[in-house]
Amino acid sequence: MSSTPTRITIRRPDDWHLHVRDGKMLEAVLPYTASVFGRAILMPNLVPPVRTTRDAVAYRARVLAALPSGARFTPLMTCYVTDDTDPDDVARGFGEGVLAAAKLYPANATTNSAAGVTDYRRIMRVLERMEKIDMPFLMHGEHVDDETDIFDREAVFIDRHLSKWVKQFPGLRMVLEHVSSKTGVDFVAGAAPQVGGTITPYHLRLTRTDWLGSGLKPMMYAMPVIKTAADRAALRKAATSGAPCYFLGTDSAPHPLARKVAVNGVPGIFNAPVALSTYAEVFEAEGALVKLDAFASLNGPKHYRLPPNEDAITLEKSPWTAPVEIKVAGADERALVYRGGETIAWRLVE
Ligand code: DOR
Ligand code: ZN
Repeated sequence: MSSTPTRITIRRPDDWHLHVRDGKMLEAVLPYTASVFGRAILMPNLVPPVRTTRDAVAYRARVLAALPSGARFTPLMTCYVTDDTDPDDVARGFGEGVLAAAKLYPANATTNSAAGVTDYRRIMRVLERMEKIDMPFLMHGEHVDDETDIFDREAVFIDRHLSKWVKQFPGLRMVLEHVSSKTGVDFVAGAAPQVGGTITPYHLRLTRTDWLGSGLKPMMYAMPVIKTAADRAALRKAATSGAPCYFLGTDSAPHPLARKVAVNGVPGIFNAPVALSTYAEVFEAEGALVKLDAFASLNGPKHYRLPPNEDAITLEKSPWTAPVEIKVAGADERALVYRGGETIAWRLVE
């Protein structure tokens, strides 16, 4: 009879997709990531967005200033691609080590994406240049228009755009962020190693029935939306397979409570406080704890061509209760925590 271990040690993980915002919210949420992860790819969808190398230098300084003292955490910066992105600026930022990647938001696909790309012809020169300098291209991979059902946005994006770009730019390394469907999982597997995919803790746990089936749960609303049980099964199989093309990206995305729980609530799930524990639960349930190291700590650096972190962390099976919310000091604001109030099976031990 085999028994699951109650302790597991893995290399220190990284978060390859994270929103930490700015100002007081940044100060409030960053410690939850910096205490666990060695590095994180920081999303540029601020208001206004982090569009240029110069913007990224300034944002990085604000992030570093918000780190708790003694934290050993490296922010990896991205720039927000628009119709007017200058290939020279992107290349300069990458060459100078400021930018780790550039991020595509299709216009109006999600939170703070109004300045996103409206016409892909306008970014072809940027992609050409990125291919030339081997700079990763990160995508919010959803096609958004009035005719496309919200549950099909990822599949339509792949069909109409991404499947063409992988052929057009065979040397361009890409990441399909927050893969949310079986179609997405299968596409990434077929396009690896050129394309990698990040997977969130909540897409691994939830179905749209959880989200909508017994009361509308704002803390399960994110873009791309949570899909079916079959999609979840495909995501769980992919993440826990150990295949190098799938890696950890929490998409932790805090919002002030009043914007999150509202008549017109915003997408985004603040999960940094429970992210690694949630992944561990999923991997345990799938009988794949031995693959957690690959997914959380090795596959991402490999795709980004960075060395893995050198130190290790230990998780222990010992229940704790997640905080319901965090207070944003000095801003009279709060952010609800994903799985807040729930008992979480795994915890990080120092
Ligand atoms: O749900 C989401 N929230 N998806 C995104 O792509 C953006 C994020 C945010 O910034 O809140
Ligand atoms: Zn995101």
